[in-house]
Amino acid sequence: MLDWYDGHARALPWRVTGAETPDPYRVWLSEVMLQQTTTAAVAPYFAKFTERWPDVAALAAAAEEEVMAEWAGLGYYSRARNLVKCAAEVAAMGGFPETEEELRKLPGLGAYTAAAIAAIAFGRRAVVVDANVERVVARLFAIDEPLPGARKAIRDKADAITPDERAGDFAQAMMDLGATICTSRDARCLLCPLQSICEGRASGDPLRLPVKAKKKPKPSRTGTAFWIERDDAVWLVKRPGKGMLGGMRALPDDDWSARGDGHGEPPLKGMWEAGGVVRHTFTHFHLELGVAVYAGNAVPVGEGEWWPLDRIADAGLPTLFAKAAERVLAAG
Ligand code: ADE
Repeated sequence: MLDWYDGHARALPWRVTGAETPDPYRVWLSEVMLQQTTTAAVAPYFAKFTERWPDVAALAAAAEEEVMAEWAGLGYYSRARNLVKCAAEVAAMGGFPETEEELRKLPGLGAYTAAAIAAIAFGRRAVVVDANVERVVARLFAIDEPLPGARKAIRDKADAITPDERAGDFAQAMMDLGATICTSRDARCLLCPLQSICEGRASGDPLRLPVKAKKKPKPSRTGTAFWIERDDAVWLVKRPGKGMLGGMRALPDDDWSARGDGHGEPPLKGMWEAGGVVRHTFTHFHLELGVAVYAGNAVPVGEGEWWPLDRIADAGLPTLFAKAAERVLAAG
């Protein structure tokens, strides 16, 4: 795997090559961004963040709002809130701790991220298992047990094959193999450096692995967002701290995120007019969000701000509300 990596590692913006020493800040930032998110989606965000906040002290000094707005569109916003907290802790400590155990204590760092940083940034031996590694290992050892039960067996096998030296390169080699050759749709075994020892390949049907427990279908919810416009500006609120999309700027809404599943009637009475429907899928449910446009003379209540329509792209709206704004503005 290490030989293969030396010849085939993907050139990714957060990677260093040859004798360069990795910058723990860049490794940390990229690994947090890459949780549940593809390298293609992460690359432009990584570029923006590192340009604006080139080190952990700069990020620690940033206003949370600014970081949240810069994160808009990347999803899983608790990552951004934890990013700011983590940067502050690390800056106060004078730098990142080097062991998996210490890294685990930082906000937003789970088993995967702590292992990845220990291995990639600090050259520690750590067993790094993300979804790509999981698939490669399940196929390599033909592990038939379904996920998530198979996680323990997969981890044990990954541990058994992780080298003492270059554990970070090994982990990234496994990730690259999973991302480019041993993919969920395809097993391009003839290109694989492990083809001669792969039990999944020997079984004749590597694509059946890893076996996954049947997923329950995602429930659907409905909600309404409110478009209140005056003098070429729209009324935006800041979502409360911890809940869905917490801390993000948003259109006011009917609190769909706090409701259970079900279908509420959009309250299109009085001065409200239908402004279209947008669909968005979150981790645990699909959402159909109707947009109600206020047709009267707007007098907003509660806390918020008038945001100029010609700068709506800079509001840092999460994708759901960016779609809603686009819908209303396109309808003119
Ligand atoms: N996915 C998460 N971390 C990664 C990394 N360091 N290289 C490639 N893909 C990744």
